[in-house]
Amino acid sequence: MTIITQRNTTTSPIHELLGNRWSPRGFAADHVVGEEELRSLIEAARWAPSAFNKQPWGFIVGRRGTETFGKIFDSLAEFNQLWNRNVSALIVTLARTEIDGEPFATAHYDLGQAAAHLSFQAESLGLNVHQMTGFDADAIAERFPLPAGYQPYTVIAVGVHSTDESIPEKIRDRDSGPRERQGVDDILLGFE
Ligand SMILES: Cc1cc2nc3c(=O)[nH]c(=O)nc-3n(C[C@H](O)[C@H](O)[C@H](O)COP(=O)(O)O)c2cc1C
Repeated sequence: MTIITQRNTTTSPIHELLGNRWSPRGFAADHVVGEEELRSLIEAARWAPSAFNKQPWGFIVGRRGTETFGKIFDSLAEFNQLWNRNVSALIVTLARTEIDGEPFATAHYDLGQAAAHLSFQAESLGLNVHQMTGFDADAIAERFPLPAGYQPYTVIAVGVHSTDESIPEKIRDRDSGPRERQGVDDILLGFE
């Protein structure tokens, strides 16, 4: 059985927010994201589960046009800078890898779940997000005062997808390319 939802082809029914989620690179330069929408993304992240409920995560939010946005943007790798000029906001995610002087083993796992919550909340608000590891974490640590034990881990672009002709062709081509996944049988390593 193959189910073709609006964007993602699935072999079993999944929630429409998951069936539609993707990571575009072409974003609308005229879109402005509201403070309440961004707060709602962080609220969704806040309610993610975490080991021992330690919530080993932190976020820095910069809206386009602000100094914070500029500092995050400058830390991005060259290819990511190419498509991030138009995004409405950039969010640095931080993993709290050390708590009370001890390494916290599941910090990255827990942060990933918080990022997933954030992504689905964004989708529900009609926003698109695109996560990135292509950035300089040391530059972020130099430019922002971070509490001890927190490490910048990803940057998340937030905005609304656009196919406007002002967006570089290379970026529009990538957005219109096929979306691929391994088959369920390739990842299902046991099932009785
Ligand atoms: C942790 C992480 C890091 C990523 N880093 C980058 C990046 O630096 N630049 C980029 O263009 N996309 C980046 N991506 C996006 C992935 O390439 C994308 O999620 C993947 O191709 C699947 O596409 P989809 O999200 O549209 O399903 C990253 C995604 C994740 C989850």
